[in-house]
Amino acid sequence: MYLQRRNRITRRTAAIRSLVAETVLTPNDFILPIFIQEGKDSIHEIASMPGYYRRTLDKTIQEVRELWSLGIKSVLLFVKSDDSTKDNTGKESWNPDGLMQRTIKAIKDAVPEMIVMTDVALDPYSEYGHDGIVDVKTGYILNDETVEALTKMSLSHAEAGADFIAPSDMMDGRIGAFRKALEENGHTGVGILSYSAKYASCFYGPFRDALDSAPGFGDKKTYQMDYANRIEALNETLQDIEQGADIVMVKPAMAYLDIIREIKNAVTVPVSAYHVSGEYAMIKAAAKMGWLDEQKTVLESLTSIKRAGADLIATYFAKDVAQLLG
Ligand code: PBG
Repeated sequence: MYLQRRNRITRRTAAIRSLVAETVLTPNDFILPIFIQEGKDSIHEIASMPGYYRRTLDKTIQEVRELWSLGIKSVLLFVKSDDSTKDNTGKESWNPDGLMQRTIKAIKDAVPEMIVMTDVALDPYSEYGHDGIVDVKTGYILNDETVEALTKMSLSHAEAGADFIAPSDMMDGRIGAFRKALEENGHTGVGILSYSAKYASCFYGPFRDALDSAPGFGDKKTYQMDYANRIEALNETLQDIEQGADIVMVKPAMAYLDIIREIKNAVTVPVSAYHVSGEYAMIKAAAKMGWLDEQKTVLESLTSIKRAGADLIATYFAKDVAQLLG
């Protein structure tokens, strides 16, 4: 048979395939979320995230040194605050001596070049487990009061030395408010990685176990986006960029590859995607049952997320993959 074109030629050997691969993962692509708890010298495995841990600050520092040596350049911090500090104002979130602020300083002291990103939302500090301040009469999350609280939280992270604040709350107008506050307080080098298109998703379940931060009532659908919507994601993202976001994010990742691509095509800032806790848990569970090969599933998943348009990927598999690639 005479064929003008034989497409399989560029698939013939592993070497040729690697020569023509359009998408290649590197440790530079990754943001590693890390969970921190109060105390000393202890680590706690998260039940719904096997192989993933919450660490005390001393253990976190050891881990961060190792991550840097593996080529991971950026960590996204989440803290589990004690129940005694939780209330409806979230005021522990801007305590200059709070666990988050101490952690930021300690990481920057130990590994100054590590890019420290911090989650900005009230849920770990809220007695109701919501990302904002609750109107106790109606159960509605108050927008403007929450933005005010989160502005204080953001400034305290910047003062402690954070490189990027990462607002995950989905309140209206927050990016503009944070940018203005950062400018007015001289933090002109602090970036904003905005969770711009964050969907109300069941895939966050294991994360809420990790921080003991599940909403005490209702759900997050009055602030996080409806997964039925695509155009709304563009609207949110374009507004965040206009208000000063340096990097935008789509979350979760695997069920939202269309949104990642849509946003990548529409914007000129870096796009990130968050491969969330439930996505981690699904792969771990299937691997444990012997139904999927963990390593192959992880590489295929993360490569697909990058191929869809993510310049950066926040993933709990970052360390494993960095080790694999190393
Ligand atoms: C808090 C926050 C959540 C996640 C990141 N920041 C949970 C939520 O919105 O309920 C989820 C991360 C994950 O599932 O891995 N606002």
